[in-house]
Amino acid sequence: MCGIVGYLGKQQAAPILLDGLAKLEYRGYDSAGVCVFSDGFCVRKTEGRLRNLSTQIDGGAALQGNLGIGHTRWATHGAPSDINSHPHVATNGKISIVHNGIIENYLALKEFLMKNGKTFVSDTDTEVAANLLEYLYEQEGDLLRAAQAATKQLEGSYAMGILCIDRPNAMLAIKKDSPLIFGFGEGENFIASDVPAILKYTRKVVYLNDGDMVDFTADSAVFYNSLGEKVSKTPEMITWELSAAEKGGYPHFMLKEIHEQPKALCRTIHPRIKDGKVCLGDLTITEDYLRNIHRIYIVACGSAYYVGCHGKYILEKICRIPVEPVLASEFRYCEPVLGEDTLVIIISQSGETADTLAALRQANSLGARTLGIVNVVGSAIAKAANDVVYTWAGPEIAVATTKAYSTQLSVMYLLAMYMGELLGTLSREEYDAMLDAMQKLPEQIEQIITDENLAKISAIADDCRDNHDVFFIGRNLDSPTCMEGSLKLKEIAYVHSEAYAAGELKHGPISLIEKDTLVIAVACVAELFDKTMSNVKEVKARGANVLGLTTEDMEEEIRKTVDRYILVPKTHPLLQPSLNIIPLQALSYYVALARGCDVDNPRNLAKSVTVE
Ligand code: AGP
Repeated sequence: MCGIVGYLGKQQAAPILLDGLAKLEYRGYDSAGVCVFSDGFCVRKTEGRLRNLSTQIDGGAALQGNLGIGHTRWATHGAPSDINSHPHVATNGKISIVHNGIIENYLALKEFLMKNGKTFVSDTDTEVAANLLEYLYEQEGDLLRAAQAATKQLEGSYAMGILCIDRPNAMLAIKKDSPLIFGFGEGENFIASDVPAILKYTRKVVYLNDGDMVDFTADSAVFYNSLGEKVSKTPEMITWELSAAEKGGYPHFMLKEIHEQPKALCRTIHPRIKDGKVCLGDLTITEDYLRNIHRIYIVACGSAYYVGCHGKYILEKICRIPVEPVLASEFRYCEPVLGEDTLVIIISQSGETADTLAALRQANSLGARTLGIVNVVGSAIAKAANDVVYTWAGPEIAVATTKAYSTQLSVMYLLAMYMGELLGTLSREEYDAMLDAMQKLPEQIEQIITDENLAKISAIADDCRDNHDVFFIGRNLDSPTCMEGSLKLKEIAYVHSEAYAAGELKHGPISLIEKDTLVIAVACVAELFDKTMSNVKEVKARGANVLGLTTEDMEEEIRKTVDRYILVPKTHPLLQPSLNIIPLQALSYYVALARGCDVDNPRNLAKSVTVE
């Protein structure tokens, strides 16, 4: 969480920093700040959204200077406040830094630094890092050496942009376990947490590795590795357009991303189907290896974990290998039994979720084979996994995931088919049926998100806006869809909701059903439709108001039981979740709108969760 940006060149830095921060606000948005070097450090920072800061400094016009760093914060140490906002300047005013990450040993360092004359005004770990750098700089007389020494003492994660009062024409940036890119311009250079922040100015970037540092001026950049050795880096060219990370006429990123799903699925699926076969590029998994694995773990957080729950049904059905989805935060501490005969599939949009990354590293260290399903190219998880299959959803900005989730599901189908073919557990007939159905998914999603259908969902949402408790129920593959639908409603509309396997209701939660409780029944698994309807009748008998979701062919059946319903096109049974989730995403979006919530930037959340 948190976004950092840095600029050094011939232009006025502050407007460029603000512009970059606007593209990074998805990473955290409870305060923002900049530090520009003119005669000395000029720091402006404020609690609240970036627009507050922008107003305060007149869109950047009020701050002169061609060198600066900026930050948008998701608070970890200390409440959101002006004082706790970044940048932080050290005691003697020699060092100013922005930081994304967490310094785990900040208390011990703070004690040491206080004994050595440093004083603190904030509650943050970042101010400790700034003072450590200043302390070491005062000892070493050289910022690079000071930073190299600091990295030996700092425990935790960091991407930092560092300014030094004695270096009016240079910036230093360091990285460990938090993302950082360096952008090469013409007579200007940049650092940022993510590509969109600098894409307006350059497409030529380097993704820094853990332990890397870059010491740069407007015209030069020197890279160092974790051993302090100078290294040369070959820049990569970003090929996608900035418009991919802008709203493009939509009122919210989330709505735009819902609409982008058909195209995103095409990008994920089509290039991977060649001559009637699933081809997963560089995947190094062989038939021999697959025959010898005894268990697959799917490890992830949040929505990505729900894709893992779908993966259990899909992979077990197709490959006949036991599959266990596990939350990354639990996997890390449950002493998982891992070895060469275990495949660990790691799913992450951002590729930087702290728990997921730690679980991946643990799996690697215990000798399991790891396979990442990742959206952000070059991210930490993509780099650390033995194999990676990219989802190619494009930049996802809204905190609530939509297109990344959908593309993760698609990769799950591709993977299951790929493995099923290698193992011979998937008949040609079934393989062809899935292949055919998969290629039709984008068109079927288009049918769900027509203006007419969205208007109907929006009307339902208006009626649901005052419900305080919502229950999602479904069976089999509908069950993870319920979990994802419920999470969406919680995170952006702040509605308390629970998801239950429909058969579980009678084992406790049904006692919560009372007159007008909203129950959303997902009944898209054809062979379990009647069973789910029995559960619907049970909640209706206790006064629930039921919104049903089923496939078009079941309209006559569902209308007999529920109060209102939403229909989705029918596809291959294993692929059906890809269609079922779309109206639930839209429903949450419209409930959030009806309740006046900040859809793209829900309270207390950030897009990338880089802390435990
Ligand atoms: C989904 O809407 C959430 N914002 C969240 O649950 C997310 O899926 C989770 O934090 C995992 O993120 P990742 O895919 O970037 O690892």
